[in-house]
Amino acid sequence: MSHIIAPSVLSANFLALEKDLEMVNKSDAGWLHVDVMDGVFVPNISFGMNIIKHMKKVSHKPLDVHLMIVNPDQFLKEFKEAGANILTVHYEACPHLHRTVNAIRDLDMKPGVALNPHTPISALEDIITEIDLVCLMSVNPGFGGQSFIENTYSKITQLKALCQRKNTDVHIEIDGGVTLRNCKKLVQTGANVLVAGSTVFKSENPGAAISQLAKPIENTVEI
Ligand code: DX5
Ligand code: ZN
Repeated sequence: MSHIIAPSVLSANFLALEKDLEMVNKSDAGWLHVDVMDGVFVPNISFGMNIIKHMKKVSHKPLDVHLMIVNPDQFLKEFKEAGANILTVHYEACPHLHRTVNAIRDLDMKPGVALNPHTPISALEDIITEIDLVCLMSVNPGFGGQSFIENTYSKITQLKALCQRKNTDVHIEIDGGVTLRNCKKLVQTGANVLVAGSTVFKSENPGAAISQLAKPIENTVEI
């Protein structure tokens, strides 16, 4: 498979979460994307470790946990215990980012760093070799169902160039507004993880939507 699809549970049916997670288990999804929002870093509140613990009991997919919270350092161990495999923190929320990503790795999780749409790729210059994933926010974080910001393509290209210059490799994850229409161009530009909330869970056939998004894509542009 040329890229990974990570359905975002934020758009699932919380009254039938088990059923939705079982659908994801049977699908072509590679990971399950889990959005944690604190109402401070972003203007919305989602759920915390207790719910993630329950998700972990049902999900067979690696949990890709995206923390949209201030002071994530105080909860890293709890997210590990809840079942996170990949733990992504926001550049904008971490004054001691180097310490935070190393603490995540010491807890045996894969560290990721998310960038808000206005944060330049150059902010990753001195951290890129320490992390496994960069999450490029292609909407302003806080809500599902928003429109994709086109400047993201240019950020993917810049991020690939940074990785090449630093002789390192990271997962390039796109989060927000991913659709059946833009998925191909995103992968061709260099993304290899696509998060999809509404495109999957608002579809009449979520499993088929995941398969469509996951279809192998040829002619990836090399830089
Ligand atoms: C937004 C979240 C996303 C969200 C994506 O703050 O980080 O993961 O669930 O939802 P869609 O795919 O609907 O834009
Ligand atoms: Zn997310």
